[in-house]
Amino acid sequence: MIVAIDGPAASGKSTVARAIATELGMAYLDTGAMYRAIAVEAQRRGIALDDGEALTRLALEAHIHFGREGGSGLATHVEVDGRDVTAAIRTPEADRAVSPVSAVPGVRAAMVEQQRRIAGREHDTVLEGRDIGSVVFPHAELKIFLTASSEERARRRTIDMERRGAGMTYDEVLADLRRRDTYDSSRSASPLLKAADAIELDTTGMTIREVVCAIETLVAERR
Ligand code: DC
Repeated sequence: MIVAIDGPAASGKSTVARAIATELGMAYLDTGAMYRAIAVEAQRRGIALDDGEALTRLALEAHIHFGREGGSGLATHVEVDGRDVTAAIRTPEADRAVSPVSAVPGVRAAMVEQQRRIAGREHDTVLEGRDIGSVVFPHAELKIFLTASSEERARRRTIDMERRGAGMTYDEVLADLRRRDTYDSSRSASPLLKAADAIELDTTGMTIREVVCAIETLVAERR
């Protein structure tokens, strides 16, 4: 079974998708981490973020590997060509670099192919991203589109950033989220889009537990 969870930045996709995968014994794939890994590797190699051809070549060549922390649990450790980029992909610099990289059609085609291959190896997978229900798995058994107000998403992301020691104010985070929302929704290659058959959940007034329970109930119904 494929569970597709799409939605804008900081809508709670990762927290919710990880909880569902853990509780229901499904595999988990963070597709945003793949675009982030390519962006970080591009910067390391000095590839310009507007050089679509070089970025596409990199996306086709680079080997992205997800590993399990301590050999168990969810595959949340990310490596590019054997180099651990788990921390590097979560910096504010990576946040800025990833939008132009993920807008390159060749990069997207390479990532989508890998995502289908990775999920195809597993029995049940929860995937989170922007285009899972619309492009990667249009026949997913369950499609969720998670949203929350931009203020609520900025509030959550600021707490997240503080925990990781990246000193960004609420106003900076809000401005960055709005910039990414606009970029992700207006790019011509697979813009952030709610699939016609996706179930939209506005999580603004909901706790994580409420969101997880709501989706798990839907999984049980579809299984
Ligand atoms: O979910 P995230 O914030 O880690 O995603 C990072 C970026 O990658 C985000 O700006 C949009 C892009 N992305 C995408 O275009 N398609 C996906 N399936 C996942 C992420």
